[in-house]
Amino acid sequence: MSTLEIKNLHVSVDTPEGTKEILKGVDLTIKSGETHAIMGPNGSGKSTLAYSVAGHPKYQITEGEVLLDGEDVLDMSVDERAKAGLFLAMQYPVEVPGVSVSNFLRTAKTALDGEAPKLRHWVKDMKASMEQLRMDPAFAERNVNEGFSGGEKKRHEILQMELLQPKIAILDETDSGLDVDALRIVSEGVNRVKETTGLGVMMITHYTRILRYIKPDFVHVFVDGRIAEEGGPELAEQLEAEGYDRFLASA
Ligand SMILES: Nc1ncnc2c1ncn2[C@@H]1O[C@H](COP(=O)(O)OP(=O)(O)O)[C@@H](O)[C@H]1O
Ligand SMILES: [Mg+2]
Repeated sequence: MSTLEIKNLHVSVDTPEGTKEILKGVDLTIKSGETHAIMGPNGSGKSTLAYSVAGHPKYQITEGEVLLDGEDVLDMSVDERAKAGLFLAMQYPVEVPGVSVSNFLRTAKTALDGEAPKLRHWVKDMKASMEQLRMDPAFAERNVNEGFSGGEKKRHEILQMELLQPKIAILDETDSGLDVDALRIVSEGVNRVKETTGLGVMMITHYTRILRYIKPDFVHVFVDGRIAEEGGPELAEQLEAEGYDRFLASA
């Protein structure tokens, strides 16, 4: 069992107009096996939350804490966060020219485990996961994120997640840019990892569409840098019907 605790998190960024506070006191606890949907309008700070937990240098934590199984995540390097079991799938993943998907994944796995995975098992696991994500085997030899379509980027992220077996995953707008078939395949991948490893998931999304495929246990409405309302899956249905207007009026 793992627990990610975000407590009273305040985060600022430097902008040309001065320092701007984006997160204004976020409290959120995610345990193994739980799926939490973070839903909110554009610009409410959802990606900032993901980047802050990931350790992006642009985001300054001014107050609060983030703990993984009681360990101070904010004190860890980005590598150490991954080693501790955090997985971050970014809204805009970076290209890694000259590094193939297969090399990248094997290097990441080796770094996380402290030893190289046994080649036979590794090749088998990677093949199985790629098949389930309906990825062409040739994809393994392409450079990471170079010229990937939106759908390929997302599948690659889920492939990473399945092979690296994190404790807690933060998925930022995993549904963006996916057609219905790709959305279903990617969602099935997330559900598979949840079932087999007991992954805890923070799923950031603007739209309710992905929640038809990945069922959240908890829904948090994010407005103006903090959680404005929390509930179960029924809250997502309410948002689908009503949008975010009710929350924006009160923000
Ligand atoms: N690196 C940054 N520099 C300046 N402003 C930023 C930066 N990152 C985020 N912001 C601002 O913070 C707010 C929240 O952004 P973001 O976290 O991307 O929201 P969301 O993911 O909910 O759409 C926006 O007003 C955005 O312009
Ligand atoms: Mg975002």
